[in-house]
Parts: sequence; structure tokens; C-alpha cells
Amino acid sequence: MSESGSSNWAIEATDLYRRYGTLEVLKGVSIRLQRGKMVAIVGKSGSGKSTLLHILGTLDTPDTGTVSVCDVPILNLSSTALSSLRSKHLGFVFQFHHLLPEFTALENIAMPSLITGKSKREAFNRANDILGYLQLSDRASHKPNQLSGGEQQRVAIGRALMNEPDIILADEPSGNLDTETSIQVHQLLRRITTEMGKSLIIVTHNNDLAALSDEIYEMKDGMLFRSEG
Ligand SMILES: Nc1ncnc2c1ncn2[C@@H]1O[C@H](COP(=O)(O)OP(=O)(O)OP(=O)(O)O)[C@@H](O)[C@H]1O
Ligand SMILES: [Mg+2]
Repeated sequence: MSESGSSNWAIEATDLYRRYGTLEVLKGVSIRLQRGKMVAIVGKSGSGKSTLLHILGTLDTPDTGTVSVCDVPILNLSSTALSSLRSKHLGFVFQFHHLLPEFTALENIAMPSLITGKSKREAFNRANDILGYLQLSDRASHKPNQLSGGEQQRVAIGRALMNEPDIILADEPSGNLDTETSIQVHQLLRRITTEMGKSLIIVTHNNDLAALSDEIYEMKDGMLFRSEG
């Protein structure tokens, strides 16, 4: 939730340019994510959706342009300040869940807290609460390969929630799932936005799933267009 004195924007990015060699991927992209809203970004493969999401998530830097996350301009932040901002404000969900295979669902969810050296008991209590919210309590001690694709992705969402981020960035979180399971994952993210007051950007190929969002943008020719949805 917004702290007092903070603006209405979870993320503000202005006039982003990014090229790889001679390939201009972003050619002047601006986007603002309102606090508590869910925004979808659609667009063809190779149109620059992941590039944009990585920049918004401070995992990559633009050639020019500015990004603020929770009112903090990230330009010129040291790498330590950047990673602390990231672990405080941002949660990531990717197309492939990237769960650690040798750890249980509960441990995977608790991991972001455990690696910052917080108390184990607190971490596992919170991870248990999250598992309950995700309706996965009966899968707590299962390893990733003992979970279905949809369950694995829900655990990955749980892990993204662990540090209580203000913002969740999801890059094709259902790209690898069947239609019904994809809908469940998108509905879960919608619920998280509404019930927990998170701000969320979701990249998807699927226009029907994008329609669950408050706003839809399309990446095209290096630019972002507001879509009527
Ligand atoms: N590290 C990199 N080095 C060189 N080119 C890159 C790099 N990352 C991405 N690209 C290129 O930039 C363009 C945009 O890639 P990006 O991954 O952002 O697209 P996307 O919209 O996410 O595609 P998809 O829907 O397939 O995930 C592509 O042409 C890609 O080949
Ligand atoms: Mg991509």
C-alpha cells in the first residue's frame, strides 16, 4: 500500500530507448503503472515486451529515458541500493517458474526471506500463510517435480509475494500452461491485485487473458500503444 506522501504511481517510465547492436527494440516508450492496478502488455514475439519489463523491474537499464519505482528514480543508484529497492518493492514471476528443484514448495516460497537472513520461523510462518492463500497447503512438502505446471506457477507467485512487494512483474506467467490453467493463474494475479492492493504488470500473448486487466497496452514497432481492450 502507498506510504503517506507518495504519489499515485507504482512505476513511472519516460521515453525509454533500448537497442541491441543495431536493433532498436524500444524507441521512446513511456508507461505509468497506477498503484493498485493491473496492466497487461501484449505484442508479437520479439516486439520488446520482456526487454521493457526487465527495464521496469530494474534488471536492465535503458540507453536513455528514466524509470522511477515507488517514487525512487533508479538512475545513478548503486548496485547495492538497486538490489535493496528490488527486494523491498518488486516481485517477479517468469514464464518458467525457476523453482529450486531440491527444495519443497514451502521452502521455495520462503527462500527470498531466508536469503536475506531473516528469522527462519518467521519466514516459514509467512510462507505457510501464503500457501494457504494459494490453496496449496496440502502441497507444502512437495518438490517442484511433484507439482503440476499450474501448481508450480502458483508457488512461483507465492515466492514473488514473500517479501511483500508493492509491485509484481509477470512475464508470460502462463505461457507454458494449458488454457484452463492459464485462466486460473491470471485470475489469481487479478485477485492478488484487488485483495492485496498490489500493482501488477503482466506480459502475455493472450488477448483474452489480458482482458482481466485494468488497462491493456500493445508493443509494436518499438512503441507502446494503449489498446481499447
Ligand atoms: N540480450 C540481447 N541481445 C541481443 N538481442 C536481444 C537481447 N535480448 C533481446 N534481444 C532482441 O530484442 C528483441 C526483443 O526481445 P524481447 O525478448 O524483449 O521480445 P518479447 O516481446 O519479449 O518476445 P517474446 O514474446 O518471444 O518473449 C528481439 O528481437 C530479441 O531477439
Ligand atoms: Mg518475452
